[in-house]
Amino acid sequence: MSTRPSILVARKIFPDVVARLREHFDVETNEGDAPMSPAQLIERLQGKAGAITTGSERVDAALIAACPQLKVVANIAVGYNNFDLPAITAAGVLASNTPDVLTETTADFGFALLLATARRLTESEHFLRAGQWNRWALDMFAGTEVNGSTLGILGMGRIGQAIARRGAHGFNMKVIYHNRSRLDAATEAECKARYVDKAELLKTADHLILVLPYSASSHHAIGAAELAQMKPTATLVNVARGGIVDDAALASALREKRIAAAGLDVFEGEPSVHPGLLEASNVVLTPHIASATITTRKAMANLAADNVIAYLTQGKMVTPLNPQVADQR
Ligand code: GLV
Repeated sequence: MSTRPSILVARKIFPDVVARLREHFDVETNEGDAPMSPAQLIERLQGKAGAITTGSERVDAALIAACPQLKVVANIAVGYNNFDLPAITAAGVLASNTPDVLTETTADFGFALLLATARRLTESEHFLRAGQWNRWALDMFAGTEVNGSTLGILGMGRIGQAIARRGAHGFNMKVIYHNRSRLDAATEAECKARYVDKAELLKTADHLILVLPYSASSHHAIGAAELAQMKPTATLVNVARGGIVDDAALASALREKRIAAAGLDVFEGEPSVHPGLLEASNVVLTPHIASATITTRKAMANLAADNVIAYLTQGKMVTPLNPQVADQR
């Protein structure tokens, strides 16, 4: 019997990353890539020292209690709201995410979604593909100005700052932001971003982009009351997490044109999407792909592998979420 640690890679990842892991571990993979139920995940994790997960696997107190041999869980995502971090930490299990490697790529996508939403890209493409374009008109699919407008950013971590730089330096936008804590003056100056309270952000932004982490305190940070404070000409973009926006309230606001348009990469209860959003023409919808370039997704998978290899072979981690666990070993 092998004495090497066993690990589970819960979703299909790149073969070269699996090959790296196989240099150190007995690796069980999920080549069919079917998302697992909590019970299936627990079953597949029996006897495993490590797990590489994605946002579709929930690692909670019940799973941790049922998998006593587990030492490390490495999420292929920067967000980790699928982890119950206090429970994982209390059990002495190390957790990691994949920050930094996806910052610029995700900011590119946030900006792409903002442009597509403001300039009505998918709506006009559907019109053309449906054979409805038989004459040109001066106001055809006239959208909202992006250059020189006011960009509001809710959540000013690494990705928020990368979006601010694109807006300020690339599109000459006036950037305002709101965040739990204010940036230092040098970072504000570099991003050309001005700190405002949430009410001013909502009221002033021509384009509001959400890049804050999901938690109980950010649940429905944008609901009916917040949408009512936005300009009727404003666009809203969410590249953060489903649940930060109240999708039912947003669908009503879009239907009633209380805001102009929205661009959404994440949804409450995804992969299900609220029917009111599917019906609306003034919304651009994408399936949670903000970090999806081959280069970045490979970098994320490799970073998760680095974390598992470093921890199980040397007791170290590259991007730990709970480094206190490693310190206590
Ligand atoms: C993707 O949503 C991530 O958190 O990396």
